This record gives sequence, C-alpha cells and structure tokens, in this order.
Amino acid sequence: MGEVDEAFIQALMHRPKLSVTEAEGIPLIDLSALSATSTNIKNPDSTISDLVQEIGNACKNWGFFQVINHGVPFDKRWSIENAARKFFEQPLEEKRKVRKDENKLVGYYDTEHTKNVRDWKEVFDFLVESPCLMPASPEPEDKEIAETYSQWPDYPPELREAFEEYAKEVEKLAYKLIELIALSLGLPANRFNGFFKDQTTFARLNHYPPCPAPHLTLGVGRHKDSGALTILAQDDVGGLEVKKKSDGEWARVKPIPNSYIINIGDCIQVWSNDAYETVEHRVVVNSEKERLSIPILFNPSHYTMMKPLDELINEQNPAKYRAYNWGKYFTSRLNSNLKKLDVENLQI
Ligand code: SIN
Ligand code: FE2
Repeated sequence: MGEVDEAFIQALMHRPKLSVTEAEGIPLIDLSALSATSTNIKNPDSTISDLVQEIGNACKNWGFFQVINHGVPFDKRWSIENAARKFFEQPLEEKRKVRKDENKLVGYYDTEHTKNVRDWKEVFDFLVESPCLMPASPEPEDKEIAETYSQWPDYPPELREAFEEYAKEVEKLAYKLIELIALSLGLPANRFNGFFKDQTTFARLNHYPPCPAPHLTLGVGRHKDSGALTILAQDDVGGLEVKKKSDGEWARVKPIPNSYIINIGDCIQVWSNDAYETVEHRVVVNSEKERLSIPILFNPSHYTMMKPLDELINEQNPAKYRAYNWGKYFTSRLNSNLKKLDVENLQI
C-alpha cells in the first residue's frame, strides 16, 4: 500500500471512519458517593444503591463506562505517564533490552497482531504480583502454564516505582468496582473478592506513534478483554472506540481529564452467566499526534476454576459455560506460541 507495511493494513470492513463524532459516549459515572464518610459499600445506603443501579445498567447496556471522582491520586498517574513517555522516546534497541519473548511473557514488544493484523503500537507490560502463573506443585497437564517474572528497564530509573505505586492505587479502585458490580447482580458485595487472592493482574503502557495511514490501520484491532475488569487511563488525544450494543456501530470514547474507562472482561461474563457481556473495542490512530494509554487488567488467581456462579443459574437459566482454568486461559492469551483459548469455545 506504499505508506505503511502491508502487515498493518486492515481489511476494508474493519477500517476506521476518521470523521466520527464523540457526541454519544459511554455512560459517565460519578463515584464521589464512595468517598463520603457515611457510606459503606458492604452496608449500602440509598446513595450507594443509586450508584449500584447506574453501574448495573452500564454493564448491561454498554459493557463500558467512564468514572470520575474515583479516588486514585492524580500525582501517581502523572508520574507513570511521565516515566512512560521517557521510556518510549528511547531508540528501539534500548527498549528491546527488556523485550517479551518465549521465556519472558511480559516486557516490551511492538509486534502484536490482533486478528492476524499488526497493531500500530508499542507496549510495555508487567505483572502486578509476579511470579504468579505457575501453581506451587504443577500437574503434568499444567506444563503450558508459564512461570513468568516482570523485567524492568534501566531507563528511566523511576519507571518501576511509579508503575508499581500506580497499580496499587488502581487496584483499590478495582476492588470497589468489583464490589459494586457484585451488588448490581444481587450478590453480597464481597462475592468476587476471594477470586483475586493470588491475582494475575497486569499493567500495560500502550504507546501509539503517529501513523501516516490512519484510515488503513488500527492501534489495536477489534477485540474483547479476557480478564475480570480493565481500568484504563487514556491521555487527551482519544482513539478508543467501543462497539455499541444498541446498533453495532463504533462509538468514540471522549477523553475526560483524570477519568478512568472501565470495561468488563470475559470473567464477569462467565461468572454472571451472560447477564453482563464483554464488549468489542479497538483503537484508532491519527497522523499527527502520538497517544499514550495505561490499562490495568484486573485478573483472578491462576488456579481459579472459572464457571457461572451457582446463585446466578437455575433450571430456567442453566449454565452457559463449561468450567475452565483461568491460569491456562490467561497463559494462552499471553504466549503467542500457544493456541489462544476463547470463552466462545467454552459455551455449552
Ligand atoms: C486496548 O483495549 O487494548 C487498548 C485500549 C486503549 O489504548 O485505549
Ligand atoms: Fe482491550
């Protein structure tokens, strides 16, 4: 195609419209009720009940929402964004010193393909609590579950601490959200908490350089997230698009300073037996500006057996998924040499 390598070119039907309006967006939810001293999430009063309903509607109708007044300190976000920009500004050979490969399932990479088309992005990721994937005494059939450690670049030296501190703060928000989601499904607030004891949560820095052919490519091709919850910080450039459940059209998510974009992943779809569904999304790039986004992918413990919750199934609404091991599922998504597992293949 001349302007960019063929590997990046999307099929005609998946190419983005560059003139989308941002008028209709995902629901915007104000979490300030959570920080009010009189409210307790485990013992909800009426303010929390309104919030629970808002979250439930957003999960059902969009699978996505945006939150403000979330309690994550802005200075932590500022520090990791700055460190991330310094890391990505370096020459490729420096960044490749911490590259992801068959032995290191996390680190730097710029060759991710989504649905067989190369993404216009570069990425650095780390596991919030590593090593975390290998069970203490692995069964022979667990061979493909990898033991994996995070690796850290020398430059910028503050990146590790900034990323770890930021992830810790976002994790607190994740727990609050997972409790609100449990309440919205009619479950006790702490119903999901036990699944995250040895969590496999990981954090990612996404850098999307300006692209000479944004009408032909995508920063990330259409996909659904496999974990429980994704908490994403995007900068002011914009580019994330969500597939609307109402009409199947793509909606651009408007950047709102210091807000977070939340979406539910396959785990919540399975636990809720499809009451809430994971929604497809993608990233559009542009020819002028680089873009930075930082998702934290909040994931259960590696040994979790994923299946619909007993409380949410009955004779009229039988389980829609076979049980599966989260660690295997997750490893198959991280390691490009393994066959990618997908909840669609686990449907009964
Ligand atoms: C992703 O969903 O993988 C990235 C989202 C973003 O950069 O906005
Ligand atoms: Fe995603």
